Amino acid sequence: MTKAFDEDKAAGFGTRAIHAGQRPDPSTGAIMPPIYQTSTYVQQGIGQHKGYEYARTQNPTREALERNVASLEGGKHGLAFSSGVASVDSMMKLFSAGDHIICGENVYGGTFRLFDKVYRRFGIEFTFVDTRDAQHIADACTKKTVAVLVETPTNPLMRITDLKAAADAAHKAGAILIVDNTFATPFFQRPFEFGADIVFHSTTKYLNGHSDMVGGIVLLNDDALAERLQFIQNTAGAVPGPHDCWLALRGTKTLHLRMPRHDENGRTVAAWLAKRLGHERVIYPGLESHPQYALAKKQMGGFGGMISVETGNKENADKVLRRTRIFSLAESLGGVESLISHPASMTHASVPIEKRAAMGITDGLIRLSCGVEDAADLLADVEHSFSVI
Ligand SMILES: Cc1ncc(COP(=O)(O)O)c(C=O)c1O
Repeated sequence: MTKAFDEDKAAGFGTRAIHAGQRPDPSTGAIMPPIYQTSTYVQQGIGQHKGYEYARTQNPTREALERNVASLEGGKHGLAFSSGVASVDSMMKLFSAGDHIICGENVYGGTFRLFDKVYRRFGIEFTFVDTRDAQHIADACTKKTVAVLVETPTNPLMRITDLKAAADAAHKAGAILIVDNTFATPFFQRPFEFGADIVFHSTTKYLNGHSDMVGGIVLLNDDALAERLQFIQNTAGAVPGPHDCWLALRGTKTLHLRMPRHDENGRTVAAWLAKRLGHERVIYPGLESHPQYALAKKQMGGFGGMISVETGNKENADKVLRRTRIFSLAESLGGVESLISHPASMTHASVPIEKRAAMGITDGLIRLSCGVEDAADLLADVEHSFSVI
């Protein structure tokens, strides 16, 4: 089971981002962990090998990534998967028919779809609640509740969950707290410090940061739980290839350099949009007008590059989306390049329309992922594109 190196713990975040979990290759001294592009490993005799038997089970490049991100999150164990949703899918296999899970109502649409369309058929029960108020979690708990899953900030409404209060509510019911930390990243938020039991990411986003792979990772502290999930990782087999692990690992080496720039650009663009359109139409946790600004400031070290904007209707949204030059219209987020998207028809199309409407994912809502380009160019781009509404 992959375990973060204890000797990495003392170093600062940036040093761990670059070095944690990796040591020069013992056979050549290569400073970068090699891409172990192999399906199997030669054994000396029956049961005699170097700790590696078959690449679904163990791969040194994958282990380097798992140790690295575990260290950044302050976790003990890391398990990488072939996508963010594959991480969630594998975690669900920890549970059984009859178990009850409480999930934030505004999670990534693919997480909602997996629960609603797949795991409900397997007899797991789900209750979707607004986790901005931890009392909603407490109220939804039953004797069968085994887990509470929250995303904070949420995609795309940028709602904040009080992680400490959510952990307390889950633990009081005998359940575990699972946190999707994809938007904040460990640079800005470390859910284990607030009592989370499992933290996971779509590594496709900020951790990789270069929009050139798809992956997921789960971090844990509890040895027994990590062992059960590792059994599932090997048994169900949703593992990432070594090249994708290597790309993600190359990405995490600059996480501490990229995140402050995403944050700076996010703050600059959000402030301009709020001035131009009115504060009530711009959703960004770093704006003092965000209803949960104080909580975001308390549990996050920065606010990142994700902003949602209410343009009023689909026609307005379409006009803006067609005019942007640097913000490219595409699904995904968290890369060095700025992206813009339409959640209702893209990332959250699988959420029923009435649920979307009740939450505020309207046809006029657009989501910006501010990259790390020059702020002046991003501002010129939004100025140009929003001039039509
Ligand atoms: C917050 C969040 N969690 C999980 C996922 C799923 O990740 P992946 O696309 O890598 O499967 C996404 C994808 O957009 C996401 O935004």
